[in-house]
Amino acid sequence: MASYFYISFMPLLLCVLFVIRASESGHSKVLTNVSCIGVEREALAKFKQGLTDPSRCLWSWTGEDCCKWQGVTCNEKTSHVSKLDLRNPYDGLEKCSLGGKIHIALNKLKHLKYLDLSFNNFSTQKIPKSLASLNKLEYLNLSHGGFYGDIPHQLSNLSKLQYLDLSSKWRVQSLKIENPQWLSRFSNLKYLDLSGTYGLDTKERLSPINMLSSLELLILSGCGLEDVPASLHVNFTSLKFLDLSYNSMNSSIPPWFQNFSNLEHLDLSNNDLQGIFPIAILENSSWLRFFDVSRNKLEGEFLKNLSIFCNLQVLSLCYNKFSGRISDIKDNACICGQSNLKIIDVSNNNFSGNLPSQFGNFKDLEFLDLSWNSISGPIPTSVGQLLSLRTLQLSSNKLSGNIPESIGQLSNLETMDIHGNQLDGVVNELHFASLTSLTMLYFSWNELVMNLSTSWVPPFQIQVVFMSSCKVGPKFPNWLRTQRTISTLDLSNASILDEVPYWLSGILFDIEELNLSGNMLKGNISHIIEKKMPSLTYVSLSGSNLTGSIPNSLCMSDFLFFLDLSKNQLSGSLPRCHIPNSLCHLKGLGALSLHENGLNGVIPKCLLRLDLEILDLSDNQFTSGIPLFGQPSQSFRMINLEKNYFIGDIPLQLCHLANLQLLSLAHNNISRGIPHCFNNFSQMWANSNFTPYGGFMLGDSIMAMIKGRNLEFTKTLLYLFSIDLSCNTLDGQIPKELTRLAQLQNLNLSQNKLIGKIPSDIGQLKYLESLDLSNNMLSGEIPPSISNLKFFSCLDLSFNNLSGPVPSGKHLSTVVDQSVFRGNDGLCGAPLLKVCSGDEHNNMDSHNSSEDESNEGDFVINWFYSRLGSGFAVALMGFCGILHINQSWRTTHFWIVDKIIEKLSNGRIIIMFWFMKAFEF
Ligand SMILES: *[C@@H]1O[C@H](CO)[C@@H](O)[C@H](O)[C@H]1NC(C)=O
Ligand SMILES: *[C@@H]1O[C@H](CO)[C@@H](O)[C@H](O)[C@H]1NC(C)=O
Ligand SMILES: *[C@@H]1O[C@H](CO)[C@@H](O)[C@H](O)[C@H]1NC(C)=O
Ligand SMILES: *[C@@H]1O[C@H](CO)[C@@H](O)[C@H](O)[C@H]1NC(C)=O
Ligand SMILES: *[C@@H]1O[C@H](CO)[C@@H](O)[C@H](O)[C@H]1NC(C)=O
Ligand SMILES: *[C@@H]1O[C@H](CO)[C@@H](O)[C@H](O)[C@H]1NC(C)=O
Ligand SMILES: *[C@@H]1O[C@H](CO)[C@@H](O)[C@H](O)[C@H]1NC(C)=O
Repeated sequence: MASYFYISFMPLLLCVLFVIRASESGHSKVLTNVSCIGVEREALAKFKQGLTDPSRCLWSWTGEDCCKWQGVTCNEKTSHVSKLDLRNPYDGLEKCSLGGKIHIALNKLKHLKYLDLSFNNFSTQKIPKSLASLNKLEYLNLSHGGFYGDIPHQLSNLSKLQYLDLSSKWRVQSLKIENPQWLSRFSNLKYLDLSGTYGLDTKERLSPINMLSSLELLILSGCGLEDVPASLHVNFTSLKFLDLSYNSMNSSIPPWFQNFSNLEHLDLSNNDLQGIFPIAILENSSWLRFFDVSRNKLEGEFLKNLSIFCNLQVLSLCYNKFSGRISDIKDNACICGQSNLKIIDVSNNNFSGNLPSQFGNFKDLEFLDLSWNSISGPIPTSVGQLLSLRTLQLSSNKLSGNIPESIGQLSNLETMDIHGNQLDGVVNELHFASLTSLTMLYFSWNELVMNLSTSWVPPFQIQVVFMSSCKVGPKFPNWLRTQRTISTLDLSNASILDEVPYWLSGILFDIEELNLSGNMLKGNISHIIEKKMPSLTYVSLSGSNLTGSIPNSLCMSDFLFFLDLSKNQLSGSLPRCHIPNSLCHLKGLGALSLHENGLNGVIPKCLLRLDLEILDLSDNQFTSGIPLFGQPSQSFRMINLEKNYFIGDIPLQLCHLANLQLLSLAHNNISRGIPHCFNNFSQMWANSNFTPYGGFMLGDSIMAMIKGRNLEFTKTLLYLFSIDLSCNTLDGQIPKELTRLAQLQNLNLSQNKLIGKIPSDIGQLKYLESLDLSNNMLSGEIPPSISNLKFFSCLDLSFNNLSGPVPSGKHLSTVVDQSVFRGNDGLCGAPLLKVCSGDEHNNMDSHNSSEDESNEGDFVINWFYSRLGSGFAVALMGFCGILHINQSWRTTHFWIVDKIIEKLSNGRIIIMFWFMKAFEF
């Protein structure tokens, strides 16, 4: 609705604005009797002709008096055009974006002092050299104008220029600076913003800029700057504002930064700066108000001398390696009397110690983020004195004790995030007494006990509630019944043992993420999901003892990508969604997990066209044939139909799913052969563009699981690349095409009726960790290439008709136990007791040479499993106990993972930290 309004009414609104503006200026100009000079009017008219103006924003440019035209201002005395402001008021939106050519006639505006063409789309041209003849210009703003190519050095003719803005932060690196010297000639320049330009490195840029002794503001953000000169005689000491963020500077911060004694704003964030941060910069800059060095690799004990923060309003140190005990603040806390700080963000560092008991001096503090440090001890009662506070982030520290009731006085508080600490004690109504502005509440993963009376009506309308693993129950929290704006509700594992309240579905209209898993919610699922939930993306209701059938209204949640209803007592058939309100249209659905229910019926045809990423229908009672996956689909990553009663053969259409990584059809009644076309799963090929961070290919689903800490579901991701067809009645041979799937980590074909030989180049599956071919009727020799498989932790070839010598050498001989081969009477050689005739063929010599030939890539690819393995795989390892787990490569991974982290791009690192911290690896 909102966007519809925007699109259809904005042009109108725009015009209304223009009319108002135009008539205002027109009015004033009639009074002062200004009229346009003919030459300049013609020049403007020609200029307009060169432009494209699809939104007709220059509609007022008609008539004789050009001084009345929109954006044109004339000098009251001389009538000359002095100002041309054609900035697109809709910051970069297509609407009102001018384009086309800048006509040379613009030169005729000899008295122009101010030219603003920012936020337009002159994408077909360079900055015209002719602008250089407008030598009265004091202000030139071409930022986000869409210009490209070299910046003409002739611009340096504009000797009166005070403001020069050529930035383009969004279309990065479209303007190039070739020759630096022209920059030095702007002797009156105060304001220089060259963000997003490229071509020169730090040294070459800084030497001409260093000549500009009147410069007060310098922004070189996103310029790809790398080297910082180690020494520089700083000349532009009048600088007040310096922004070098989003570059690639990876040195330490050089000492000459200390010479900017007038600095008020310093932004070095999002670089790769290293080493100890020189505190003297802060000590020497008594005017500093804004200080941001976030997202670097800086170190140092920052909190030693707190007086350096006295004048600061914004302090951002997040994502660095700063350390020090926060408790040391205590003695110094009052050193500046009243602090001016509005924003403190020191999250993701190594700060330790307790929170200071004095918060009273921070009367202006609006944003406090201390999350992801190692801060311990209690939350002090004085936190209630932070009366301006809107955001309080203390998550993922080691805070303990109970939450002081004084926190309930923070009437401006919007976000309270204390998740992932060791807080305990009872939370009652006093904790929320005056929190009228609260919209986001993160209490998850503490030992908190919620004790809110059933008649309590909260003073807030909340959007986000995270109380996972807090003791919320045994009753369903009744205070939620008055809430109307909830978008995220996570009450998973919250000890609720209650009927689903009748009002629940009524408060979930705007819900996006819903996680009530791990509770005992008696009642019908339709009390939760009843009506259309248009914004729903993520639902986990697993293990909640719900009854009823899957509600049809889910068909209308167009953005759903994760649906986990496993381990309930659901019954009936899957919803038959009819086009257009169809499950088939849930394009984004990434995970569907319905196992351990009592669902029955056939899988509706419609489901077959689902654009799922993950389909998990395991542990149910479906009795039909395997669904035909009619359309080639790029989205499927995982299909799990385990433990049902599916019959028939494996449909060839399955092979259309080129991105499939995990396929399990185990424990069904599937018969006939394994299709040869499984080699179509190109995501599993050796040369697939698979990156080591495989987990993230599952993208949003993984993120959702992390957010919801959906450990149950994550277990199914034990392997990233897996085919499990065990416990069926498959016959025929193992297709040799399977060996093309070089990324495969798990292949389980056990308990079928497979015949023939094991494919001779099975050794091409070089990342295989588990291979189970037991209980078939395979014959022939074990191919020697099997000994190339160096990540093995589980191998079972028992109960077949295999014969000949057991291959020896390399990894196999170190890990194999004879039970791997039992039930194959024809096999001989170590580790079996039966000696082969002609035993001298066994070559044990390669044993020690091969230990470390595995390259880093091998380790990289398996990091995910090794990490997961330590947490989840233990139980599963149990049934493959036939083999000794090869520990050596696993342990190696633990140190190699650190190296990998350094290789990852920034975004990925964050996700990975998220992941590792979330699962406490
Ligand atoms: C402006 O003033 C001049 C003389 O002062 C007069 O001749 C002319 O008509 C005026 N113009 C307008 C548009 O009022
Ligand atoms: C700018 O204009 C060009 C055509 O001249 C168009 O292709 C492009 O999409 C436009 N870009 C923006 C951001 O409006
Ligand atoms: C720049 O200024 C010089 C001397 O003032 C002049 O000769 C030259 O034409 C100007 N260049 C441009 C492009 O206007
Ligand atoms: C130039 O224009 C942009 C966008 O209109 C604006 O954000 C910026 O502050 C302007 N630069 C100057 C120096 O006024
Ligand atoms: C400092 O600036 C002045 C003029 O602004 C210039 O003459 C001098 O060369 C500059 N010094 C350095 C080291 O760049
Ligand atoms: C900084 O980056 C450059 C280029 O990527 C690299 O050669 C240099 O080793 C890096 N320096 C440090 C200290 O990491
Ligand atoms: C699950 O629900 C059923 C029927 O509502 C009930 O009989 C049973 O006691 C519940 N199980 C648990 C553990 O609460």
